[in-house]
Order: sequence, then structure tokens, then C-alpha cells
Amino acid sequence: MDFDPMTDRHPFLDGQPKRMLIGGQWVPALSGKTFETRNPANGDLLALVPEAGPEDIDRAVAAARAAFEGPWRRFKPDERQAVMLRFADLLERHWDELAWLDTLDMGAPIRHTRGSQRHLIGLMRYYAGQATALYGQTAETSMNGEMFAATLKEPVGVVGSIIPWNGPLWACVFKTAPVLATGCTLVLKPAEDAPLTPLRFAELALEAGLPPGVINVVTGHGRVAGAALAAHPGVDKVSFTGSVGTGQEIVRASAGNLKRVSLELGGKSPHILFDDADVEAAATAAAYGVFANAGQICTAGTRVFVQRRIHDQVVERMAQIGASLRVGPGTHSDSDIGPLVSARQMERVLGYVGSAHEEGARLVCGGTRLDDPVRAAGNFVAPTVFADVADPMRIAREEIFGPVASVMPFDTLDEVVQRANDSPFGLGAGVWTRDIGRAHAIARRLQSGSVWVNCYNQMDPSMPFGGVKLSGYGRESGLQQLDEYLHVKGLWIQHG
Ligand code: NAI
Ligand code: MG
Repeated sequence: MDFDPMTDRHPFLDGQPKRMLIGGQWVPALSGKTFETRNPANGDLLALVPEAGPEDIDRAVAAARAAFEGPWRRFKPDERQAVMLRFADLLERHWDELAWLDTLDMGAPIRHTRGSQRHLIGLMRYYAGQATALYGQTAETSMNGEMFAATLKEPVGVVGSIIPWNGPLWACVFKTAPVLATGCTLVLKPAEDAPLTPLRFAELALEAGLPPGVINVVTGHGRVAGAALAAHPGVDKVSFTGSVGTGQEIVRASAGNLKRVSLELGGKSPHILFDDADVEAAATAAAYGVFANAGQICTAGTRVFVQRRIHDQVVERMAQIGASLRVGPGTHSDSDIGPLVSARQMERVLGYVGSAHEEGARLVCGGTRLDDPVRAAGNFVAPTVFADVADPMRIAREEIFGPVASVMPFDTLDEVVQRANDSPFGLGAGVWTRDIGRAHAIARRLQSGSVWVNCYNQMDPSMPFGGVKLSGYGRESGLQQLDEYLHVKGLWIQHG
């Protein structure tokens, strides 16, 4: 689709209130209530979307259950695979339109939302391949007599997925592909700040030929619709991506029926630069590791540990990059960084900047809201680098989710391992060194779900992704994710 945001209205934004998808029907909330979603670059109202209540969650879960017990269960693995491949083709054909919707609703530059196409379409096709590759095992038991013992893999059932706003299209694909591959069904609850892409995504799922009720999308507030989904006795598993506090609420809410839970939560990822590294490449990666998506990435490498000999050089280079990045509306093709998703998020980030000043960190670049005439109506914050950050400062401990880097010098490997691990989180970690022995040694000692050496934030459908400690549990992507959506049944048959 050739869509020019300056002259064209996005085809999905027709001025009508949006409806949500339950059991193959596009419906308003039973209460009739709606809420607004806006463009964070200029405050424009994009659409009204249904504000679901617990009663809407009830009917969505019932629809997902009916699909799970009914038509979807009769789909053979190769039929699930075929519908997933059709879905992937449709997503590919409509990618531009979907990317624009993400950009309008949550702010990321169009180059970036478009840029995830290869990975995300690849992920859908990867799991389509897995649909016909699921199998259990047979066991040689020590029983007397003739015993056939085997494991069967069975879909867990109805999955509730609660997703954040920092990459809606990304989250849609990540939460949908393993559900479809394993034969589960889904109730998806988008974030309040960016509910539009999931609705369009679901239209394409129906067009691909998924039976009604396999994917349901229910828009609403976290504390109402999200909480009802997490607590629902008819939901067998919840997959959540978002903040630690909400993740903890979800675990508590899951206790009623002991549903399975997987959590992809926040981080305060260390990015460690040794002085034998390619300094230019390392400093550039460290800067983009924080500033990409305006810092609204769970793996943002916000604690930049730099070995003392190259510390000043890296600080200077990161500040140069920060100052040179073009911060503007995501709809402008030359923007490197868009706005933060909401005024609330911007206030939160500026609050952390204030705390850094109070605690004595040294501001090297940025540190302000950009409120010139072009950007005043949006939530734009300049890429920010603080040096002289001490480990106990709030900006070095808490997830900011904004473009704010904390740079800290270190001397030895043992010291930096200890400091990097001294965090409640454990999501990602970056290491730059030309010493391969050191790379191997430190990779094993860092407490995190992923370690990237001489690169950062790499992802591929073949590789698992997730966290340890307060960054959550469970894995997404890779073969490992399938087991999150499957039960293992032990089958015993005495014969002979
Ligand atoms: P949040 O975790 O509250 O929201 C994420 C999703 O959870 C949304 O769909 C929301 O509606 C839902 N939700 C909220 N309360 C719920 C509840 N009680 N039960 C069930 N679902 C609920 O995050 P929020 O408030 O949007 O952002 C706050 C901070 O969280 C950010 O500044 C960032 O630090 C962190 N965050 C981390 C993300 C990550 O990818 N790791 C993504 C989004 C936020
Ligand atoms: Mg929005």
C-alpha cells in the first residue's frame, strides 16, 4: 500500500468507532462504552475502541473454548500449517498498512515498524513449520509384563495474552504463532495506548481462514479487562508482556485455577564495553541499544559499563550520537526516534531525569522534553546520556523505558560481572571484546536470558528469548516456546 500520511487517511481509520472480535463477530462492548486512542506525535484522536468489561471477557473466553473443542480441534496439523502460511502471506501483503497503524498509534518511526517485517513474517512461517513437527516420545520402562509407555503432547487450551504498547505488531505475531502451531485458541487483550494494530491483524486472521473463535481480540483497560482475563477460570494459560508489577498481579490472579503463566517483563540490561573492543562499533551499539524505539524496549541496554581506559571516549561518542539522532513524528521518513507513547510515560521518564540530577549524575546530552512548535503537541524527549552514575542511583536500578543511558566506568572483569548481576532484573546483556576467551567466560557468568557478544538485541525465530529473576519466566520464539503451549500426557498401555 502506498500511503502518504500527509494526504491520505489510513484505510483502517474511517472515523467510525472500532469493534472488537469475539467468536468471529465484530462487536461493541456489552456496556456500549468506548475509549480513545490517540497519536502520541500530535495528540490527534485516531479512533474510539470498545471498552470491554468482565462480561465481554466471559463471552470471548466462551468463544475461544467453543473453537478449541469444536472446529479448530478438527484441523489436522497440516491444515493448521496451511492456514498459518496463508496468514503469513496476508500479513506480508498488508505489512505496510500494519506498520503505518503501529506508527500512528504508538509513535515509532515508520522505518522501524516496517523494518521488523522479515523477522515477524519469518516467525509466523517458522511456527507454521512446527505445526507438523510436534511429537512425543516412547519410554523403555522397567515394568514387568508387556508395557507400551509414551508421551503425548496436547495443546493447553484457551490462552489469554495481555500485550504492551511498545510493539503491538510484534506482540501480535509473537503471541499468535505458537497458539496456532499447537492448536490452542486465543483471547488477546491489547494495551490501552495502542489497540488498533491488533484489530486489523485479527481481520487478516479471519481472511486467512481461521475458524471463528480461534483468535478473539478484546480491547479494554488493564485493571478491568486484563484483570478479568488473568483471573478467568476458563483460561488455561496466560502469556503476558509488560511491567513487573502487573506481572506479579497476573501471577496472583492465576492462583484460582492454577493456570499456567509465562511472563516477559522489564529489564535494566547491562551493556559491557571492554577496552580491547572496536570502540566505534561498541559505542554506536551502546547508543542504539538505549535510544532505539525511544528506549521503549524491554531489552534496552540502559546500564552501560565501560572499561576505564576508553570511558571518556565512549561517553563522548554516545553523546554525539544522541545529539545527532533526529527526533520527530514517526510518520516522517527521516525520523530516527519517535515520541514516547503517552504523556504519562513522558512524565515518568522526565521524573527519572530529575532524580538523576538530584542524586548527582552528570548530564552529558539531552535531558529535556522537546517542545518547539513542531513537537510541542507530542511526547518527545531528547536522547539522554548521564555519566558519573553510581550503581545505587535510581536511574541505574529501575526500568525507565525512555531514551536515558547511564554510563559507568569499571576496571576488572570480576568487578563488572558482580555489578552487572547486582540487579533485580535479568533480561539481556551485551559484551564487547576481541578476546574470545573472555567472551566465553563472561557470557556464562552473566545472569540474563540472552547474552549478545559484539552485537546487541539480535533476535531470530530459531532462538529463544526471555528472562531470569524479575524479568520473568517462560521463553518466546525458538523451539522452546512450543512447550509453553503444550501439556505432556503419559500414556500406559499394558498388552500381551
Ligand atoms: P503494564 O504492564 O501495566 O501494561 C501492559 C499490559 O497489561 C496492558 O495491556 C495493560 O492493559 C495490562 N494490564 C495492566 N494492569 C493489569 C492488570 N491488573 N491485570 C491484567 N492486565 C493488566 O505497563 P504500562 O503501565 O503500560 O507501563 C508502565 C511501565 O511498564 C513502563 O514504563 C515500562 O517500564 C514497563 N513496561 C515494560 C514492557 C516490556 O516490554 N517489558 C512493556 C510495557 C511496559
Ligand atoms: Mg495510541
